[in-house]
Amino acid sequence: MLPEHPEELRKFVAPEFLFGNQARRLAGRYANNYGAVRVLLVTDPGVVAAGWPEDVSRSLEDVGVPFTIYQNVLPNPRAEQVMEGARVFHDLKCNVLLAVGGGSPIDCAKGIGIIASNGGNILDYEGVDQVRLPCPPLICVPTTGGTGADVSQFCIIADKPNRRKLAILSKTLVPDVSLVDPETLVTMPPDLTAHTAFDALTHGIEAYVSNASSPVTDLFALEAIRLITTYLLPSMADPSNVGLRKHLMLASLNAGLAFSNASLGIVHAMAHPLDAVLDQSHGLSNSMVLEVGITYNFEAVPDRFLAIADAMRIPTRTTDARYALAAILGEIERLRFAAGIKKNLTQAGIKAQDIPYLADHALKDPCLATNPRWPKRQEIEALYAQCF
Ligand SMILES: [Fe+2]
Repeated sequence: MLPEHPEELRKFVAPEFLFGNQARRLAGRYANNYGAVRVLLVTDPGVVAAGWPEDVSRSLEDVGVPFTIYQNVLPNPRAEQVMEGARVFHDLKCNVLLAVGGGSPIDCAKGIGIIASNGGNILDYEGVDQVRLPCPPLICVPTTGGTGADVSQFCIIADKPNRRKLAILSKTLVPDVSLVDPETLVTMPPDLTAHTAFDALTHGIEAYVSNASSPVTDLFALEAIRLITTYLLPSMADPSNVGLRKHLMLASLNAGLAFSNASLGIVHAMAHPLDAVLDQSHGLSNSMVLEVGITYNFEAVPDRFLAIADAMRIPTRTTDARYALAAILGEIERLRFAAGIKKNLTQAGIKAQDIPYLADHALKDPCLATNPRWPKRQEIEALYAQCF
């Protein structure tokens, strides 16, 4: 007999993770434990230039596990790159995936894993719970402080010919282990530091106001918000300080655990089409629509914003949620400008005539399913218009 109100139940899925400096050096040991015959190491040219794949591959050599590097991954990884990686995985008889990098290599590795086990085309798996068979073991070494892909059940792939991004959500996409190593963040340039932190901040805020939030996801969401708003600017001022970077890495981890389980909302639904059309960093897209999304959602869950203001350490000294909202918006604007994020939709090249196309795709995005308010088409269009 099923529970009377199954919609009130909440689950929490998380991978094994190791958090701490030099966690990356355990990749070889984990690959060995998973019975690796040959590892496909998925990364991208920027991460290769930073030297992290070399560092990680040495740990594979130490345990005698052969590997092949697949680095044909662009920011906003494309369906054809997933399919090419899956061919390499199959042709070279690989049986374990190791992703080293930000959200792009990790999502590409997840996509390769889907095809390796389930066949077909990656475009066939869009939506929630469309992946039937478990993927090969996936080890992640995240090198940016924001994506959360290394602990999440999300995989975001660009369908370039159709100028859109597809979201694949499935428990089978939760990596087997994430080796979360704060040292890897020191090679992030300032703009990437700011963009990924804004992605993580958005994850925290959206997970906290999500219809699928729970007391457990709330803990992670609020802690992520606190860490980012406290440590982003100090970390940017002292970029080689691993102690400060550690707080941002922890924020990313917390935010990832929150949104993987509570899902996201209107900000991500509006940001994904911008990622696809502008081919720009996902965190930058989020930062462009974050305030309008927050303001729109406020009417549905005003009291939630008191806790968010508290997590941001905003001295509101009030129980007036509307006051808290104004203070949150002010703090986000201050943080964004201080972090050097100054682009808006106009400067990014979006025109008024692009709005219907963007709204079309935002309305189809699975992230919208857990938003506390369900927008009409005109409302989404009006929100985009407010970002010019
Ligand atoms: Fe995101």
